[in-house]
Amino acid sequence: MKNVVATQLKIPFFENEDEAEKSDTTTTFSDNLTLPIHRWFRYSAGFSASWVRQLIEEEKYNGRTRVLDPFSGSGTVLLESELSGAEAIGIESHPFVIRIANAKLHWKQSPKSFHDYAFSVLERAEKQVVDISEAPKLIKNCFPPETLLRLEALRKSWNDTADDSPLSELTWLALASILRQCSPVGTAQWQYVLPTKVKVKVIDPYEAFKTKIYLISADMTKFQAQAHGPKAVMYKDDARLCSKVPDGWANLVITSPPYANNYDYADATRLEMSFFREVYGWGDLQDTVRKHLVRACTQHVGKLYKETYSIANNPLLGPIHDELIRTCQELEAERDKHGGKKQYHTMIATYFYDMAKVWTALRRVTSTNSLVCVVIGDSAPYGIHVPVDLWLGELAIAAGFASYSFEKTRDRNVKWKNRKHTVPLHEGRLWIRGKSS
Ligand SMILES: C[S@@+](CC[C@H](N)C(=O)[O-])C[C@H]1O[C@@H](n2cnc3c(N)ncnc32)[C@H](O)[C@@H]1O
Repeated sequence: MKNVVATQLKIPFFENEDEAEKSDTTTTFSDNLTLPIHRWFRYSAGFSASWVRQLIEEEKYNGRTRVLDPFSGSGTVLLESELSGAEAIGIESHPFVIRIANAKLHWKQSPKSFHDYAFSVLERAEKQVVDISEAPKLIKNCFPPETLLRLEALRKSWNDTADDSPLSELTWLALASILRQCSPVGTAQWQYVLPTKVKVKVIDPYEAFKTKIYLISADMTKFQAQAHGPKAVMYKDDARLCSKVPDGWANLVITSPPYANNYDYADATRLEMSFFREVYGWGDLQDTVRKHLVRACTQHVGKLYKETYSIANNPLLGPIHDELIRTCQELEAERDKHGGKKQYHTMIATYFYDMAKVWTALRRVTSTNSLVCVVIGDSAPYGIHVPVDLWLGELAIAAGFASYSFEKTRDRNVKWKNRKHTVPLHEGRLWIRGKSS
């Protein structure tokens, strides 16, 4: 098979998840790969469902049964709330990611109806005649023609009856989740496309699709035997507003926002969104995805260079103002020494401004006796340390929460090999308690 070269994309300065210390995996998705429903789509940005479950169960005894996840991603918190009998609201603003979560929340459908629907899509695909010449360039680069013919046949066949119904969306998820397994280039799950990596194991699209149908229907049956909670509600909304959540509704918030680490959530889904013709090139990502997200990557802030310090001077950032300005200045000075000239200083200013707005929104939607748990890591662009957990804690207090503490779960970036910098980093849980009034 020809070694196809995918689009050249840069890997961010931040360390690779695989190389992080594995002492505690509760802040990572890895445990979910064996769990029904959670494993339908491998979402590397997610955290551990078992840990979430444990926290929900513990907090039930403290009377906290209204759970909110303002950055709900692939729906880990919502599914675990449904299992535990807690009410839950999720917010997610990434159009592809919310679709994944919503599809998973259709687990109550009849497994047999899903099985029959998805198999009818496969049977029609096997008879389809498709033209792959119109496929987006990235897709042609990621799949050899014989694979692409089958994937396109599946897409067309699914599309012919697609109607937003639960069965149609579950089948969409089955197809979306096999794309990377079927590509011979470096398309690690939920990663940027890595042009120079070639995979040894590649799965035939029809086989992968069949296997996924069996897995989904079996998991639906398992979950239906266990879950007893009310259906979780998921809103396509912005965590900076939480506009659809009633005042004082939540008494438990379990969440993980984007980290200030230059990870581009929009680019991470370009493969899938291009395959489904939701974007046609890198340029579409800004309008379709990025503009809805917390600004945590330099691609997002390219046009804001001149506004960096007016953003950092916003009164919402009062408690961290002096340190933030100093850090932005250091980052700006460091920028001149690097070829890439990344606007990390702008990224950091906008990130904390956005997160300050999230705290304001969370204060409105939480009750007085609420508990907020934020899974977060610090970062060090250009080797300049940004104490994200500490600053987020200070911003929470300024927004009206009562106290904060940080519980480290693991070290990161402690194996220096191939590192862009040697600043030790960590990841853990930021606990925010109550509201001060
Ligand atoms: C670290 S991930 C959360 C993963 C989630 N805990 C899970 O287990 O799947 C952060 C999520 O926040 C979403 N996000 C970013 N900005 C947002 C915003 N302003 N409003 C809502 N969601 C946002 C991203 O699309 C991403 O899915």
